[in-house]
Amino acid sequence: MSPKPENAPSEQNYPMRLQKFLARSGVASRRRSEELISAGRVEVNGEVRTDLGCKVDPNADEVRVDGRAVSLFDGCAYIMLNKPAGYITTMSDPHGRPCVAELVPVERFPGLYPLGRLDQDTTGLLLFTTDGDMGPALLHPAHHVDKTYRVKVKGRLRERDLTPLRAGGMRLPEGYVCAPAKVSIDELGEGWSRASITIHEGRKRQVKLMFGGIGHPVLELHRDVFGPLQLGDLPQGQWRELTEDELAALRDLTGLL
Ligand code: URA
Repeated sequence: MSPKPENAPSEQNYPMRLQKFLARSGVASRRRSEELISAGRVEVNGEVRTDLGCKVDPNADEVRVDGRAVSLFDGCAYIMLNKPAGYITTMSDPHGRPCVAELVPVERFPGLYPLGRLDQDTTGLLLFTTDGDMGPALLHPAHHVDKTYRVKVKGRLRERDLTPLRAGGMRLPEGYVCAPAKVSIDELGEGWSRASITIHEGRKRQVKLMFGGIGHPVLELHRDVFGPLQLGDLPQGQWRELTEDELAALRDLTGLL
């Protein structure tokens, strides 16, 4: 069995439902795990189990998905990375481009996956976990997880330029209508400006599209806040496990863990 992450939750409710076991092992979200079970892709002790009431004891039972053995952590790993520019948010890339998997401890915590994504050129706070329930819960729009970005944009921002962002209603190319954002101007330079923006949505390239939409294309983008988590002084390219307090804050937000 893999080593227990230092700050993993300590509850031990064994036996546990098979779908919970799969989610906790990082196979998939609980709902997706139910689909895998119903589809007959999950074996317990060599027997295909399609009943969602099936319970397993992680210490005694052998679970396989599509023939691959799945092991349970005694708890899950939760990690934040200060992502450098140049890495794509994926755990493997068929084209061999640098990806964030190279920067996090995948051997120590198999099943680690990123929660949400940052563009290749975006830096800052990216959360990873092995907990299959955590992604859907944190990324669900109903949970309104605030994300704060520091941006450097082209041109001199004026307060009135920000009105469409603050008011909400900006329509992105795919038709999505943005909620009101919190925005402030931090610094004005020669032909550029720095600003901070907080949004609770997470549409693809949303911040770039929002500033591009007011005529100030983004030159640099950095995320330093994700819900209750702050990047602080974590050096670029480094990761660390979340603290107990940070986990408790995530627990409050999602009702999970
Ligand atoms: N918004 C963007 O445009 N890019 C990111 O990487 C994150 C948010």
